[in-house]
Amino acid sequence: MAMYNDKVIDHFTNPHNVGELLNPDGEGTYGSPVCGDMMKISIKVENDVITDARFKTFGCGSAIASSSVATDLIIGKTVEEALKVTNRDVLDELGGLPAIKIHCSVLADHAIRSAIYDYAKKTGKTYVGLEGFDPGADEGDTHHGCDMEHKGCEKE
Ligand code: FES
Repeated sequence: MAMYNDKVIDHFTNPHNVGELLNPDGEGTYGSPVCGDMMKISIKVENDVITDARFKTFGCGSAIASSSVATDLIIGKTVEEALKVTNRDVLDELGGLPAIKIHCSVLADHAIRSAIYDYAKKTGKTYVGLEGFDPGADEGDTHHGCDMEHKGCEKE
């Protein structure tokens, strides 16, 4: 337990934005190729601003803390701004995760991108931040937005 800081423990114990939105404007599920855990994110978008987001994580405590912070970070942002949120921002906001848990924050990063991808597909919109993103891509192509060391990640 000593390896997790208080903020991570707080977000794990009292996660924000848990659940699923009714009639979401976009939703995305991502499964980590590293550990097999899954995350589902649903978003509401009004006038190109993400007004709400919810997550369901079938994963570890770090994934829950990461999704809690990640959903907090994107609510109130425009879609393009939200696409600029990377797992590094999530890690910064959490005050860091143990190196072998960094892929858990990547899970949140990709699930958000997948939900926005779904929104873009449904509405016919294009976003610069989605260029090159393929929600169905295999590991190796899917580290978009992740510029951390991939310790514990099979890409390395
Ligand atoms: S998300 Fe799978 S170990 Fe953290």
